[in-house]
Amino acid sequence: MNGKGIGFGKAILFGEHFVVYGLPGIASAISDITVAEVEKGTKSGWELIDERPAVPGYKDKKQGEIQRSLDLIFKYMKIDLEKNPVKIKLSGNLTCASGVGASAALASAVARALNQHFSLNLNDNQINEVAYEGEKGSAGMPSGIDNTCSTYGGMLSFEKNLLGGPNKISLLKVKFPMLIVLASTGITQETKEIVADVKAEKEKNPEKFEKFFADYKSIYKKAVDAIASGNLGGVGLLMDKNQQLLRDINVSCPEIESIISTAKSNGALGAKLTGTGRGGLVVCLCSDKKTQEKISMAINKTGFETTITEVGKK
Ligand code: MEV
Repeated sequence: MNGKGIGFGKAILFGEHFVVYGLPGIASAISDITVAEVEKGTKSGWELIDERPAVPGYKDKKQGEIQRSLDLIFKYMKIDLEKNPVKIKLSGNLTCASGVGASAALASAVARALNQHFSLNLNDNQINEVAYEGEKGSAGMPSGIDNTCSTYGGMLSFEKNLLGGPNKISLLKVKFPMLIVLASTGITQETKEIVADVKAEKEKNPEKFEKFFADYKSIYKKAVDAIASGNLGGVGLLMDKNQQLLRDINVSCPEIESIISTAKSNGALGAKLTGTGRGGLVVCLCSDKKTQEKISMAINKTGFETTITEVGKK
């Protein structure tokens, strides 16, 4: 049987990098998805046709990661590619860029499509485990927040279990969906490298990081309440505070700062990098559709591409 599966793109609203150290993060699926289709291959091994839209340079830079991801997925699913060669086609409306969870969306979509193709009967939790394995190909030792969002959808609170047991995942109460603009710096980053830089920085300055972690925990708690009560102004303010911490741990960059400043001067309630940082995407929270359009256009005028979407949709 031919197999088909989807994986959601995502935006981390709070806690990228902090989640790696077991602090809770908040992330939401966006409506843009990657679609994977699997059919019987004609030559031994796997063959990939990648028709996903992507920012310039993304696919070249990620070629090695995609290869590693797929190899890890096949290994984890114990698929014998000598006996069962496959052809995978990737498509969908998720524009691949650093920060949007493109590698996780690929891993979830491929896991689902292989599950159908080989009639494996995996449930969502098992699909998520496979997607986590695939994520290791791009993020080294990922927290799991990206694949969890890509697999389940919705807005989630995510806490990595540092002891290796199950992660703490809960669907968040959201008063109403929140309008966002995702703006791309056009820079593709390797998550693994940036995560390693942060780790080195933390080892050099443990006291400084203790303070950052304590400040972040208080931001997270307030954000859960603000999201549940629909206090958009509060969410925006907390996003700005989270961005300050991301600057402090040195994962921002001039392009991110330029987008943030355009977004804020055009009415964004809050704006921060989302995902890996030092490039990738900026998430801007908007009060209404008109302001969303205005922010998006203003960012475009400065030469950066944008996607208009929303988070927290049920
Ligand atoms: C990447 O989207 C998010 C990071 O926190 C890495 C991870 O959670 O594995 C930077």
